[in-house]
Amino acid sequence: MKNKREEIIELYARHVSPGKVDLYRKYDIALVPGKREKSIIYDVNGRPFFNCHCNGGVFNLGHRNSGIIKAIAKAMETYDIGNHHLISAPKARCAAMLAETMPGGLNQAVFGVSGGEAVDLAIKLARGVTKREGVVSAIGGYHGHTGLALAAGEVKFREKFGPIPPGFSQAPFNDVDAMRAAVTESTAAVLLETIPATMGIVVPDRGYLKAVESICREKGALLIMDEVQTGFGRTGMMWGFQHFGITPDIVVAGKGMSGGLYPISVTVYNEKYAHIFREDPFVHISTFGGSEIGCFAAMEVIKISRRKTFLKKVAKLGGQFRREFEALKKRYPKLGLKVRGLGLMMGLEFKDEMTALFLVKLLYDNGLYLVYSGNDPRVLQFLPPLVVTSSEARAMMKAFDRAFAAMG
Ligand SMILES: Cc1ncc(COP(=O)(O)O)c(C=O)c1O
Repeated sequence: MKNKREEIIELYARHVSPGKVDLYRKYDIALVPGKREKSIIYDVNGRPFFNCHCNGGVFNLGHRNSGIIKAIAKAMETYDIGNHHLISAPKARCAAMLAETMPGGLNQAVFGVSGGEAVDLAIKLARGVTKREGVVSAIGGYHGHTGLALAAGEVKFREKFGPIPPGFSQAPFNDVDAMRAAVTESTAAVLLETIPATMGIVVPDRGYLKAVESICREKGALLIMDEVQTGFGRTGMMWGFQHFGITPDIVVAGKGMSGGLYPISVTVYNEKYAHIFREDPFVHISTFGGSEIGCFAAMEVIKISRRKTFLKKVAKLGGQFRREFEALKKRYPKLGLKVRGLGLMMGLEFKDEMTALFLVKLLYDNGLYLVYSGNDPRVLQFLPPLVVTSSEARAMMKAFDRAFAAMG
């Protein structure tokens, strides 16, 4: 008789995604989550895995964080998704809390459901403000699979789906000269992830983002920072861009904003550009965007993740993990490991794609769930929950050690 796990996998293959099932079956890594709690996902058959990816930051505060569950449960007694035609107290309060975490002027918020939707709006806004159409993003970057976000991403994600809107171009990341050449008098915006994750967790060189900010100012283009993965404390600061001394015109956030319990995203923009929506407040709307219940989840997330003690702990843990990975690098030189990152957003680059792919499997066999970077599969993305405990961190590192030894 087929077990429950096999039944689910077959049903999923039949009705949702046969391709995904084929891929995971090929490597025998078909994880079907059942119960989940804090840092751990249990397979439906009860096998535990440390979540070392957190879906790019969605589970920053661990799975099913009790504070967020309470906030949502309480909100459910009075609220629902709200009505986007009306004035909303939860939206107003959540927007005000976000503004408190941002540098001067970034105090206007439009809520959405997903990161892609929030990026789309950021691009619309930049085009509306500048009356230009150009958008420059980074080669190998990722901003989502909706219309304008898709157009700013890699060709492989869009070539099957026909023409993209005009005006999009890409420049290599971390290359000031290339960015200077790409931004012209018709550029509406430069759109960058602070630390591009899908590119392979590439931390920008000191000075790069500052230089991009200056180029934008010179040319009259807006700077949009995509903080969908780097936001809400992941890098040891509330927002990743704060490490680099820049003030973007627009900031996009999602993923960790929901506590993994309710979808919500946001586009925060400078009050200088508020006239765009003042002229016609219905020129951009989203029925489910910024659901009032989602706002309560987000307010709890903001409250926790902006605390200095919390952020310090993230930075400290990041340093500890880094030292441990450096030690493993010495112990297993043949893997060609290079470690990079900020806070608890780390990239583990291996000598080649095959090594990284094998390691995904070996780590899985040792109870760690990790994924590789879609646009650079040599790099595994290590994003453990920001609330990981010391004993969990030790257990994770032991599992890495076992997997690296097996690879050897
Ligand atoms: C940096 C970045 N921006 C935008 C997105 C799109 O977010 P969503 O999948 O919620 O549309 C993602 C998703 O992985 C992302 O990593």
